[in-house]
Amino acid sequence: MAQTLDLLRQEHREMRVLLDALEQQLDLFEQAGEPDFELLSEIVDYFRGVPDLYHHPKEDLIYYYMSLRVTEENELRVDLHAEHDRGSDLLNIFARHLMRVLLGVELPRDLVVKTGRAFLENEKRHMDAEEKSFFPAAQQFLTQEDWSQVDERVMRRRDPRLEEQAQHRFRLVRALLN
Ligand SMILES: [Fe+2]
Ligand SMILES: [Fe+2]
Repeated sequence: MAQTLDLLRQEHREMRVLLDALEQQLDLFEQAGEPDFELLSEIVDYFRGVPDLYHHPKEDLIYYYMSLRVTEENELRVDLHAEHDRGSDLLNIFARHLMRVLLGVELPRDLVVKTGRAFLENEKRHMDAEEKSFFPAAQQFLTQEDWSQVDERVMRRRDPRLEEQAQHRFRLVRALLN
């Protein structure tokens, strides 16, 4: 089993924990409760920074090797880059709304909740699709040599010092994941 796929699946499990926490906070906000805005902001900041730095590059690398192995029968049916861009766009819309609420602007709760849900549902759907289609297809079509190269490049790029700093920065997220 490729190390990189194990890492990606582990990162998905962690992101799902954070998306569940986000969903709980949105439920609370929708029911006229007072959400934990500090946690909400931290989850948004986390998703704005960490996946692009540590998660998507690994998927891009696998995607690149997949593109080398594609034939007419196993044509790639997913555009990962477009999907990741769409996730960022939805997150930016939600982040803007959340910031306005934090600055005291009166916004309809429904609107804030709707944009938050649009982001998290898209993110869950995207991860489901990767786990059900993209990862198994990669397992099937990449050669042993491809996986050795992917794993080697991913491990070489890892910077434990930077990862530790990121962990340090996101105190509430870390508490959820530990
Ligand atoms: Fe992805
Ligand atoms: Fe992913």
